[in-house]
Amino acid sequence: PPMHHLLNLDEIEQVGHKQVNKKAWAYYYSASDDKISKRLNNEAYRSILLRPRVFRDVTRADLGTTVLGHKVGIPIYVSPAAMARLGHPAGEAGIAEGCRSFGALQIISNNASMTPEQIVKGAAPDQVFGWQLYVNVDRKKSEAMLARINKLKAIKFIVLTLDAPVAGKREDDERNGLTDAAEEEQAPKAAARTSDDTPDVSQGSAGIGQMLFAGTDPSLHWQATLPWLAEHTDLPIVLKGLQTHEDAYLASLHTPQVKGIILSNHGGRALDTAPPAVHTLLEIRKYCPEVFDKIEVYVDGGIRRGTDVIKALALGAKAVGIGRAALWGLAAGGVDGVRRTLQILTDESYTCMRLLGVEKIEDLGPHNVNTRALEQQ
Ligand code: FNR
Repeated sequence: PPMHHLLNLDEIEQVGHKQVNKKAWAYYYSASDDKISKRLNNEAYRSILLRPRVFRDVTRADLGTTVLGHKVGIPIYVSPAAMARLGHPAGEAGIAEGCRSFGALQIISNNASMTPEQIVKGAAPDQVFGWQLYVNVDRKKSEAMLARINKLKAIKFIVLTLDAPVAGKREDDERNGLTDAAEEEQAPKAAARTSDDTPDVSQGSAGIGQMLFAGTDPSLHWQATLPWLAEHTDLPIVLKGLQTHEDAYLASLHTPQVKGIILSNHGGRALDTAPPAVHTLLEIRKYCPEVFDKIEVYVDGGIRRGTDVIKALALGAKAVGIGRAALWGLAAGGVDGVRRTLQILTDESYTCMRLLGVEKIEDLGPHNVNTRALEQQ
């Protein structure tokens, strides 16, 4: 169907699902164990009620904001997700092109299916990217990547993912790793090795997730890893995958090197029954609200609607990330599918702000939401 016939992110996912092979579907869709965190990521937003104020001028609603001081058109960014070319040959560069139309930030995965140079090649002068790092047990490999990243002007910060020192147990993905050779043959060429740093996922038996995690260093910790990183880049650091107020607070003690945190349970793909990011947002509000003044806080996981975006912003998030939704958009319609995904979320977010009686993101706050039901969980 033409992209403008798709009215919401679920419809885009359904179309995207039909476009990809079983392996790609399982890799994108999968989450750990019983997928409880993945389900809760969606449900948590639904259990938050909005508190609309009326009789206010909402003519000039504006979703523009900043991330680490860089202007972005919308507070919605694309989360780092591996292997976009499994979904569509346009790959991560196609996602970048889609983001360009909205001034949206994109975080490039360590395990992208294209090189960072290829992905940022067509970037607009003011287009903003982050680059996500999984530290390799062979530090020289990570250091060589950081040296390349440091040279790319479009990349403004490093995202260090911490919630997956080992891969979660993703059964949909693993089951596909058990498929016979005949099915292997049908794996798209796009999945083949595209650079020295991109693993070849076209053959293997443990599932794509497991394969991508081979070589990831599980020994990272607060004391040693940040100084090592500081030796190899001057870019600001954003820590991804924080899930408790204790860790958010610890991160806030590492300014100025650490400038932001992403509250995330990895889309439910790491530890199952880990909390949705909004729970962690609430914890931070309760136990260490000063964190919001020291570093920027972003969230991802389960964003499907503009109301989800606005709820997260009202609770203190500076921006929200979409993982699977961007991949499904790409799979459904290439660059146009990514654009459609961002358009839907943008339009819904504008509608939500206006119906809430708010014109500017800075005016959103906890007074706009009722989190009582969420707090009982
Ligand atoms: C991811 N995610 C992820 N995170 C990361 O730091 N590095 C990575 O390489 C990947 N790869 C990846 C692949 C796929 C297929 C998915 C679905 C996710 C996690 C991602 O950044 C983000 O945290 C979640 O996807 C957010 O949840 P939603 O939006 O998918 O619900």
